[in-house]
Amino acid sequence: MQATSAKAVLGSPAIALDAEPRRERKFAPVALPNLAWTPEVARETAHLYEKVKAIIPPIEWPFHAPYVKAINELKKQRNAVILAHNYQTPEIYNCVADVVGDSLQLARIAEQSEADVIVQGGVHFMAETSKILSPEKTVLIPDSKAGCSLAASITGEDVRALKRKYPGVPVVAYVNTSAEVKAEVDICCTSSNAVKIVESLGVDTVIMVPDRFLAANIARQTRVKIIAWHGACEVHERFTPEELQAYREAEPGIELIAHPECPPEVVDVCDFSGSTAAMIDYVKTRRPKKVLLVTECSMADNVAAETPGVEFIRPCNLCPHMKRITLPKILDSLVYMREEVVIDPALAARARRSVERMIAVK
Ligand code: 13P
Ligand code: SF4
Repeated sequence: MQATSAKAVLGSPAIALDAEPRRERKFAPVALPNLAWTPEVARETAHLYEKVKAIIPPIEWPFHAPYVKAINELKKQRNAVILAHNYQTPEIYNCVADVVGDSLQLARIAEQSEADVIVQGGVHFMAETSKILSPEKTVLIPDSKAGCSLAASITGEDVRALKRKYPGVPVVAYVNTSAEVKAEVDICCTSSNAVKIVESLGVDTVIMVPDRFLAANIARQTRVKIIAWHGACEVHERFTPEELQAYREAEPGIELIAHPECPPEVVDVCDFSGSTAAMIDYVKTRRPKKVLLVTECSMADNVAAETPGVEFIRPCNLCPHMKRITLPKILDSLVYMREEVVIDPALAARARRSVERMIAVK
């Protein structure tokens, strides 16, 4: 069963009217902004270019700047916020996002924000989590095909089968899952709170879905026995200990820091492992001379913009799903109010229990 659906989009991008007949009508149609590179655009976006000039060459800025200006103006008109994950590209992360963070930080903000509209700079499960936590808000995903190999690896029926196989064993779901899966489990977790969540249940065995590598990495930090599912992140599973050892030998003094979606043998050769927010914090506070972020490519760009003097060695892997989100698609989202995340209210209420239970664990 598909838990959510992006609404059909009607109308040509050249006609800045929302052709949807129902809920979107509460949002006034807006004209498609002028996207020319003019002296006025250059002047009004100069302070934003300052933030990214170390990573975006001057020749590229005239392509981004008109979108940046238009998106920032339209956000005010729509009372919208853009919640962007740490893997979003630098022009999104630094120039149009209102909040940036890891999955847990974005979920907390989605719950607290007073905006009418959330535009998710991230993948579909993140937009679903925002909708689950803020059902009264309009949540938009600029490209509904922005999926995730972890979320795609398990269905609600898979979780029901696990519960039949292991009766009474609580199920912890990584937030990288669909609303349908969240509705079936006892509690959610993210990479930043997984150990705490597993131990909060007060049992000796839990089922943890869907990431087998995150489960293996967490199992090494707790006495709780973990039964894992077989999913993996297509970005992090590709790193190998051999390639990282080769960087250690070639780059004396380098610090390697990995996301816990990497295989345990990769984490073993690294100096630190943590959520994307914890990785950023590590670089900002410790200021290593040379660092390799064993994760998605845009993270290094985004941290580099804020940490001059740190040299980033970059054998990163791209997440094709995260990269579906672009400035032109974000602008389209705000002009046409698409693509709206819709979740069946009864299913969303069940999913919300698992997410809120996670948020309540301090
Ligand atoms: P965190 O940002 O929560 O560490 O998760 C990473 C991730 O899987 C995003 O795709
Ligand atoms: Fe999913 Fe991995 Fe991409 Fe994150 S980086 S969205 S876990 S495929």
